[in-house]
Amino acid sequence: MKFDNELSIIQQKIANGYAGVSRRLSIMNSLDIEIGQNIIDIGCGGGHLVQEISLSVGENGKSIGIDPSNDQLEAANNRCKNLNNVELICCTADKIDIENGFCDRVTSTQTLEYIEDVDLSLNELKRISKKNSKFVNVSILWDYFRFYGPEKKLNDLIHDAFRAHCFHQMLPLDLVGKLSSLGYQNIQSENLSYLITNRDENSPAIFYEKMLAKFALSQGVEEDKILDWQKQINQSEKSKKFGFTSFPVLTTAYLS
Ligand SMILES: C[S@@+](CC[C@H](N)C(=O)[O-])C[C@H]1O[C@@H](n2cnc3c(N)ncnc32)[C@H](O)[C@@H]1O
Repeated sequence: MKFDNELSIIQQKIANGYAGVSRRLSIMNSLDIEIGQNIIDIGCGGGHLVQEISLSVGENGKSIGIDPSNDQLEAANNRCKNLNNVELICCTADKIDIENGFCDRVTSTQTLEYIEDVDLSLNELKRISKKNSKFVNVSILWDYFRFYGPEKKLNDLIHDAFRAHCFHQMLPLDLVGKLSSLGYQNIQSENLSYLITNRDENSPAIFYEKMLAKFALSQGVEEDKILDWQKQINQSEKSKKFGFTSFPVLTTAYLS
């Protein structure tokens, strides 16, 4: 899935909302940042984390964000325009114009699962990492990403169509072995799952519903079925039979 135009706006609303804030809190805790460090955010999107890292590393540190989407980088540029220790680079994670061993921390949020040849990118992330640096990643177990409420057949249709939105449905479970074979140590996985049973205007469920609807349409699902699915979500919420679950996993590791 390409995070351009309307999709980049939906994605940035998710990042602004409480799901985005709470996962950035977990990431910032794990990054354990020190003044003067060089930290890179892979797939930085609208630059929320880049901004927070910039303020944490101080003037002698560097906060770098990379993303191949011009729309995402434009938003990141706006967010960080007054910060002079920020560098934003338009590129993909498999070819980053940064010298070997430059980064004290490498982090990424809900990005690696969208990269087809994720091994190539992990190799590149290792190349730009210092010895003893820390890697902090959040990716979602998409098999457990689910709306509840609409009738099962219709719900399955929309979710099945959405599977094509990323290459790796269960990346956190493969990441442990991949990092281990690259020489990372002390690899740990933390469960950041959440459950929502009602929807307010800032809820990730609202934005993900729009994202699934838009993506299903692009996959050839008939519009009336998508509208019916959305109507059933609404009705299920009114009758207090609605649910939305997501299962992000925070993976941390050290490069020895
Ligand atoms: C779901 S968004 C997450 C954005 C941000 N990390 C956040 O949590 O708000 C995924 C981001 O990964 C970017 N992306 C996709 N393929 C990429 C690649 N090969 N290398 C780096 N970033 C990529 C997309 O453009 C998009 O901004």
